[in-house]
Amino acid sequence: MTRRAVIRGTGSALPSRILTNADLERMVDTSDEWITTRTGIRERRVAAQDEPMSLFATRAAEEALKAADIQGGDLDLIICATVTPDMPIPATACIIQDNLKAREAAAFDLAAGCSGFIYALAVADRFVVSGAYRNVLVIGAELLSKYTDWSDRTTCVLFGDGAGAVVLTPGENPYGVLATSMRADGKMADFIYVPAGGTREPASERTVAERRHFIRMRGNETFKMAVRSMEETSRDVLQRAGLEPGEINLFIPHQANRRIIDAVGSRLGLRENQVYVNIDRRGNTSAASIPVALDEAVRGGLVRRGDNLLFAAFGTGLTWGAAVCKWGW
Ligand code: ACO
Repeated sequence: MTRRAVIRGTGSALPSRILTNADLERMVDTSDEWITTRTGIRERRVAAQDEPMSLFATRAAEEALKAADIQGGDLDLIICATVTPDMPIPATACIIQDNLKAREAAAFDLAAGCSGFIYALAVADRFVVSGAYRNVLVIGAELLSKYTDWSDRTTCVLFGDGAGAVVLTPGENPYGVLATSMRADGKMADFIYVPAGGTREPASERTVAERRHFIRMRGNETFKMAVRSMEETSRDVLQRAGLEPGEINLFIPHQANRRIIDAVGSRLGLRENQVYVNIDRRGNTSAASIPVALDEAVRGGLVRRGDNLLFAAFGTGLTWGAAVCKWGW
């Protein structure tokens, strides 16, 4: 039998505070009508000042471990996909490892922006399939609100905070991760970026005064690239899995913009009921968006044993990627 990595449990955690479009109307020159029609977002969750990313990542991980019926001590590896760590040093995965009492687990962060969960799933899949590790925790967690310029209407209406997690364990054909695809093009590194705070432009009074620690984005160019890249990577991964789009039971795309999701779904020839959408309630939660949506779909009874799931994402880097998974074990 072919050894595969199966998703044995899912979990998610969100901040309790809801920020609505009406709230944003009071903060910047925007309107509920503009945000809803241009992005599909109605509200998003935003973490409190004293809540770090690891708090939500740990809660999501605890739920996933419970669903998989294993303990922190059973984990061999923790990968936390994020571009919004608790601190630049050390990796937040190590803080999560301590929170989970996962004493035997190796731990590292993976930075691929909104594609982070796909990248982390692909890496985890290889560790499980090779036999190197048995129980691998993959987290996608992001608090983009902390990097958001709340006076910039072109970005502040888009982002939300949250965390999602899955536990991968060995399983057998036909279940588990069937194929993954990862792509990147650094020529577009300035499409979505935070100019200061790294080694190129270390933090100083000037960088703070110039608001260079917040996300800057070329929205329109990113939009076009997103649609093209998500379609391309989805077709690539479907071909590798030997599946047609019509054989996908649920497509869970990165939730960046309702119009991007609709365009990709229609280019792939998918029906509306094949596509999972929660952007209206969550906004763009970057690496957290797919695992949060997956957890909602699983707990909502939308995913059944034997279902073919397609995940696809794009994000800063630019990076993009997709995965196909047959649910069950
Ligand atoms: N409220 C009202 N008007 C606005 C707002 C707002 N919040 N934001 C922009 N506008 C205005 C612009 O100023 C512009 O006005 P103008 O025509 O007078 O110049 C007009 O609306 C249209 O602006 P566009 O940027 O062309 O609008 P577009 O339809 O492209 O929508 C958006 C902008 C929503 C940002 C879209 O381009 C998008 O979703 N892009 C992709 C973003 C994304 O997914 N980023 C990815 C990942 S993030 C990560 O990886 C961490």
